[in-house]
Amino acid sequence: MKNLKNWDKKTWLSSSEYLTNIIIFLEKKTKFSKETKILDIGCGRGKIISILSKKYEMKNLPLGIDIVDHKNIRKKIRFRKINALKYLETTKEKFDIIFFKQSIHFFKLIEIKKILKYSKKKLNSEGKIIILTLHSKKNHWPLFKAFKLKLVESLKKDEIILKIIKFFFKKYKINYFTFRVKITRSLYIQMIKKRFTSCLLGFSLRELTIGTKEIRGRYKKKLNFLDRLICITYKK
Ligand SMILES: C[S@@+](CC[C@H](N)C(=O)[O-])C[C@H]1O[C@@H](n2cnc3c(N)ncnc32)[C@H](O)[C@@H]1O
Repeated sequence: MKNLKNWDKKTWLSSSEYLTNIIIFLEKKTKFSKETKILDIGCGRGKIISILSKKYEMKNLPLGIDIVDHKNIRKKIRFRKINALKYLETTKEKFDIIFFKQSIHFFKLIEIKKILKYSKKKLNSEGKIIILTLHSKKNHWPLFKAFKLKLVESLKKDEIILKIIKFFFKKYKINYFTFRVKITRSLYIQMIKKRFTSCLLGFSLRELTIGTKEIRGRYKKKLNFLDRLICITYKK
């Protein structure tokens, strides 16, 4: 797997407005307290769990795990650089919340089945698994042709993943998170050049240059679009 190193650097995904909205969304899904124990799988820099940890003064620092040792890991969390599957197979810790935000699609289908099985086992009673992933139908990211083809391919896999999750969870709730993105075209082009999403990881520099020309030709200088996630929640 190629590493995703520029996931949220200086993008709408790291803006305080986006993070505030995600926290409000999560607070509607579940009650957090001082006692809540959180595991964030594929946590990136751990921004979300760091905010929750500080806000609720969590006694057990949330654990973020990621296969990449990102720079600037946030404070008030524990971080481990480890493959999530390996961690879940071996850990004796249990959690109230196991959280996946835009990370489940990095795993092979066979691994996802194992991850879901182990995650269920690692939940405390009344615990929840919360999975957020790109909405496969209603996403409005500005795209160039080759990017669109890759995204469509990846979203097809996401639909299969969603079916697997539903099968494993049996009882679940579905909600949607929508964020209105307002950024300049030039900032978005920078994000593309830094391969901000896994769909862009396989593109060569030349392909990205051609793609960004297409974006310049097709979209206005100020971009305004929706970033939509689907959220599936399981409660033990
Ligand atoms: C798209 S980023 C999402 C980061 C974070 N959850 C967020 O929403 O800001 C996906 C993350 O999953 C991590 N990841 C991918 N495969 C992984 C694995 N096998 N075990 C642990 N983390 C993994 C990547 O390194 C990356 O940081």
